[in-house]
Amino acid sequence: SGGWSRIASSLPVRNVQDLAASGEELAAETLARYIRMDIQNGDVLVERSGEVPVVDLGRLFDPQFAEQEAAHLKFACEGWGFFQLVNHGIPEETITDIRNDIRKFFQLPLEVKNAYAQLPGKCKSQTLDWSDMLGILTQPPQARDMRYWPSHQPHTFRKSIEDYSSELMKVSHSIVTFIAKTLNIDPKLMEDKYVSQFLRMNYYPPCKAMADKVLGFSPHSDGSFFTLLLEVNSVLALQIKRHNAWIPVKPNPKALLVNVGDYLEIMSNGKYKNIEHRVTINTNQERMTVSAFHVPSLGVVISPITGITEENILYKTMGVEEYAKLYMSNKLDGKRALDHAKLL
Ligand code: OGA
Ligand code: NI
Repeated sequence: SGGWSRIASSLPVRNVQDLAASGEELAAETLARYIRMDIQNGDVLVERSGEVPVVDLGRLFDPQFAEQEAAHLKFACEGWGFFQLVNHGIPEETITDIRNDIRKFFQLPLEVKNAYAQLPGKCKSQTLDWSDMLGILTQPPQARDMRYWPSHQPHTFRKSIEDYSSELMKVSHSIVTFIAKTLNIDPKLMEDKYVSQFLRMNYYPPCKAMADKVLGFSPHSDGSFFTLLLEVNSVLALQIKRHNAWIPVKPNPKALLVNVGDYLEIMSNGKYKNIEHRVTINTNQERMTVSAFHVPSLGVVISPITGITEENILYKTMGVEEYAKLYMSNKLDGKRALDHAKLL
């Protein structure tokens, strides 16, 4: 556990929810740290927000529809890198509980939340995201460090997280099995014992003063096999890069949003693409999400594994630790970490 949390430690930044709510005439130099100059790069195609592919997990398990649905899955991973997973089988109660507890957690007074603030990092010069987050390692269970888990506020939080986390493992297991089939690879290469799960609760405050000049999450790809995102409330804010334009993802409260991460791109030798995405900020609506990163355990070595001939291999073989360090050091520059894994 120490391993991943050491690698994933983030910056000591001001709580943005508190900053946004303070109503104080925000000092120009405070705000300046959040202003991004490149937000207008690329059109935003709102009219296409309903086009993100939908994959039905129930149909993947149903012999009558499995083949057709597997084709959808393949199309989604190849052509979009993102899909809405419906019929995921997680009990409604589990979803409701985690949503409620995340809402309650972010409403707690700052002193209480600060107990779980992340370890200080080093860099001071970069532009900051307009968001707060709580990140914890949830799987495998023996790797948990309970010091980072909110202990009693809200009092049901630990149980909600545990329940949601283990339900997600079941879903991930299914996704891995079906993705492996579409790639014709051995599902054992991504099976549970090689996978850790990291949950991050994200809070995006509204920004009255300059919503169009800040980002809740700057453009990036995820350093995971794949990520499962649950939106706690429904606000149009997440955008994915497609053909050089940004397409907002229309929230679907019944779905989990799945996206291909860097490791799956490498393993599929680039067939499945990790797609850059970002989070925009609303003038008067807050937004909350929880991302579940399924990452290879430390010590695992990642390389392209579809039956390809030597000369067609596009990515290096790399240890996860080496890659994760690269990823963290390039975190704010979109896809750069993955570029280092590419063979020229
Ligand atoms: C992430 C991410 C999107 C969101 O956590 O990597 O892209 O909408 N989150 O919170
Ligand atoms: Ni992401």
